[in-house]
Amino acid sequence: MKKCSFGHGVTTGFIALFCATLAICWGVNERKLIKRKAKFFQQNGGLMLKQQLCSQRGSSENTKIFTVEELRKATNNFHQSRIVGEGGYGTVYKGELADKTEVAIKKSKVGAQSQTSQFINELVVLMQINHMNVVKVLGCCLETEVPLLVYEFIPNGTLFSHIHSKGQAMLSPLSWELRLKIAAETAEALAYLHVDITPPIIHRDVKTMNILLDENDTAKVSDFGISRLIPQDKDGLTTMVQGTLGYLDPEYFHSSQLTEKSDVYSFGVVLAELLTGRKALSFDMPEGDKCLSKFLISSLNDHRLHHIVDSAILNHENMETIKEVAIIAKRCLEVKGEDRPGMKEVAKELARLTNIMVKKQTWEKVDFVSGETQNLLGESSAPHCLDIESGSSACITAGYNSMQSQMLMPYDDAR
Ligand SMILES: Nc1ncnc2c1ncn2[C@@H]1O[C@H](COP(=O)(O)OP(=O)(O)OP(=O)(O)O)[C@@H](O)[C@H]1O
Ligand SMILES: *[C@@H]1O[C@H](CO)[C@@H](O)[C@H](O)[C@H]1NC(C)=O
Ligand SMILES: *[C@@H]1O[C@H](CO)[C@@H](O)[C@H](O)[C@H]1NC(C)=O
Repeated sequence: MKKCSFGHGVTTGFIALFCATLAICWGVNERKLIKRKAKFFQQNGGLMLKQQLCSQRGSSENTKIFTVEELRKATNNFHQSRIVGEGGYGTVYKGELADKTEVAIKKSKVGAQSQTSQFINELVVLMQINHMNVVKVLGCCLETEVPLLVYEFIPNGTLFSHIHSKGQAMLSPLSWELRLKIAAETAEALAYLHVDITPPIIHRDVKTMNILLDENDTAKVSDFGISRLIPQDKDGLTTMVQGTLGYLDPEYFHSSQLTEKSDVYSFGVVLAELLTGRKALSFDMPEGDKCLSKFLISSLNDHRLHHIVDSAILNHENMETIKEVAIIAKRCLEVKGEDRPGMKEVAKELARLTNIMVKKQTWEKVDFVSGETQNLLGESSAPHCLDIESGSSACITAGYNSMQSQMLMPYDDAR
């Protein structure tokens, strides 16, 4: 009897001890985990970020600091099947938050320390921005070893994939009207970054890979990974030339002197890509034609524009606006930054051309319905005498001048 109760007591004791140990271990583990999260949060600049959020009341309202659990749930624990893209700086996952919002979650590559500051930098820059044609940042998570950025999800893919995936069943070639609209919207976004916000922002990596299309084919400029605020000390000298080959401003490449005009150059390459359907660098071309910017300019100088325009968009109706856009592209690609137009001017020109196309389409529909055959644009007001070499668009501007004021209206909403 005695022995038995003793044995019972020992067993109970052991069980209690075991449970206690387990609880302690679990507690320690949990504390460790919490500590780890807190450590990462601090390492990743969480406090700096919180301060910034507090001081910028306006943007903190729509920016959120997410927990890891939230983002794990959103991405099925960062499952492989959720990966939508891989860039130079990391991996992009598609996720769905508890409230059904679709998000793109950007995870920096593990290891390189310098990328942490790049991430925080991207975040702080993006939080200031609220523009229809710029990808919105919804928040971030700093509790992981590498910080995560949460963006609105842009469903229709990159402009690059739409231009260069010809022949693939999924994508039909973009119409000239749509290319022009996308160009105008991208220019709007860049003009906003350069002129409308203080201090101005240079994107630094303008390329078709970084222009996303939403469900309504609205252009959204993304990837501010290497954008930084223009240094206030005016000299603009930066330690490292960053950007993508084929889009890189040659002047910036040689001088490391960064200005808004570097974005203008890269945007010129984007225009060239939209016009020709060719990549910024084509390794299968002969030596002199590898670089699209050079190829476009030499073709323009040799009066061969219609030979190099993407056959998917080349037709009689489009030719006038195609020529005008080619002239804009050429000006953007000037060797000297000071000879390039500002982004505001480019945006205005492209908005005007977009509206001409839209108007033209509407008139063609009206003509069709009413049975009228008269061409409202009038042959006389659509000049054939374009002098591409002079780089002047005065001839065409005069022809369309009267329509301008009303046509620019819709674009005022975007600002
Ligand atoms: N907000 C988003 N919505 C939907 N897809 C996105 C979003 N952001 C990025 N992606 C996808 O993820 C891919 C990688 O994007 P990311 O910006 O990281 O790299 P990148 O632009 O290709 O390269 P780099 O970072 O070197 O400039 C993109 O090409 C795009 O397909
Ligand atoms: C974008 O998505 C919408 C809706 O899914 C589709 O109708 C449209 O054709 C797509 N645009 C492009 C350029 O693929
Ligand atoms: C796309 O257009 C429709 C109809 O105009 C609008 O209701 C919807 O909000 C738009 N989607 C986006 C993402 O802007």
